[in-house]
Amino acid sequence: MLIFINGNRSVGTINKNIYGHFAEHLGRCIYGGLYVGEDSEIPNQNGMRTDVVNALKELDIPVLRWPGGCFADTYHWQDGIGPKSSRKTLINTTWGGVREDNSFGTHEFMELCRQLGCEAYINGNVGTGTVQEMCDWVEYCNMPGVSPMADLRRQNGQDAPWNVKYWGIGNEMWGGGGNMRADYYSDLCRQYASFLRDYDPSHKIYKIASGACDFNYDWTQRVAELTGALVDALSLHYYTIPGSEWEHKGSATKFSREEYYITMYKALQMKGLIENHTARMRQACPNKNLGLVIDEWGTWLDVEEGTNPHFLYQQNAMRDALVAAVNLNIFGDHCDSVVMANIAQTVNVLQAMILTDGPRMLCTPTYHVFHMFKGHQGARQLETYAETALIGADGADCKVPNLHVSASEDHNGNVLVTVVNLSDHSSVPVEIHWDGLSKFTSITGQVLSGDGAGAAAYNTFDNPHQVEPKPLTNITVGTNSFTSLLPACSVAAFTLKA
Ligand code: AHR
Repeated sequence: MLIFINGNRSVGTINKNIYGHFAEHLGRCIYGGLYVGEDSEIPNQNGMRTDVVNALKELDIPVLRWPGGCFADTYHWQDGIGPKSSRKTLINTTWGGVREDNSFGTHEFMELCRQLGCEAYINGNVGTGTVQEMCDWVEYCNMPGVSPMADLRRQNGQDAPWNVKYWGIGNEMWGGGGNMRADYYSDLCRQYASFLRDYDPSHKIYKIASGACDFNYDWTQRVAELTGALVDALSLHYYTIPGSEWEHKGSATKFSREEYYITMYKALQMKGLIENHTARMRQACPNKNLGLVIDEWGTWLDVEEGTNPHFLYQQNAMRDALVAAVNLNIFGDHCDSVVMANIAQTVNVLQAMILTDGPRMLCTPTYHVFHMFKGHQGARQLETYAETALIGADGADCKVPNLHVSASEDHNGNVLVTVVNLSDHSSVPVEIHWDGLSKFTSITGQVLSGDGAGAAAYNTFDNPHQVEPKPLTNITVGTNSFTSLLPACSVAAFTLKA
């Protein structure tokens, strides 16, 4: 099937933050997953798991959102600073009523960001917090001079300000953040946004209002109308949930063909969501290019049998890899409105990059997609056209295109083409042509597929390398074109080297 890349047309630069992540105080994401504490037998640096950090570093994570999620609207940041022995132990009432000893707080989060080499995105507490509390947090993190909060930070061992740029004003305010109506939240958001200060003109903060979920376009429009002048962006949450009932979302590894295609159909709805939410923002706030921050996305499936239902621990199969790939393709192609996206969540929760079991860890198929796609970060999006066929389970309504493509060109003229073959049973020959691009010295490719196990293939702690990218050996180069064969249910990344 024919794919065409138009080097002369682009909607813009793909913000690297589209490859962002999210880590909440939920289940084993922070505690046990990212952070084990300095006294742990699991190798760590300042409490952060060395194995997990090393694997995540390979992804060039640009930005990490913390501490929630729903947890953010119950979190009081001052509980998590100062000597650990005097930090409050609380109950995490949002996620399972487990003990929260606050041993991972602001300093630990900033240390994690330092180790990962990424920016911090802190989500403030509007639900049970105050304007003063969030202002103090910004001052604590960002004030370079003398002030009560800057002095407290120094007393706790951090002299220089961290200059945290990204600040979320509440989370899911229409639901877990306080069941607010759009007008009420918007007034609160205006108040918060008015007092969150820039402490250094060269490090302006970026304010993100709590946006809608799914198809709630009215929330987006109203919040944009009322807060748009005071914030930089609105968030959007959209999870791919195969089942139609919350109690039966579907298993991560055992699913029918029909469920597979429903999942892909739902994942592809991200395109329409971005376009419609963006249209409402532009309508509400025509004079400002408000950004769309999709700070929670990914698959949400049934928890693994025998695990705490509040911990949201799910396996991660090739199907998840395809969901990640089509979403990243869609974000890249909408980089004129999507300024950041944060997959939920980094370790052990929902569509994770990494799963851990005590001292053991594995990289999921989703991890490999983020690795294969990282060349899109900061590159110039290129318009693509793909010839496709509509496919699906026999007799079922949910049909999807068999191919999904995106392409970009980096500063050196190298082009990355990422292609998903959504068919669960047919390999697809592709013929990729281009125009308006420089000459290439080599074309190589990698492919991720489940081989015999198809969409249900996954990595286990005993067999962690079952699903891994392999070189594509079937590339034939022509003039301004090349051909290849994509296995069923696969994700491919082609690098065209200038
Ligand atoms: O990611 C899990 C939860 O999903 C988050 O805490 C919340 O914001 C969303 O509903």
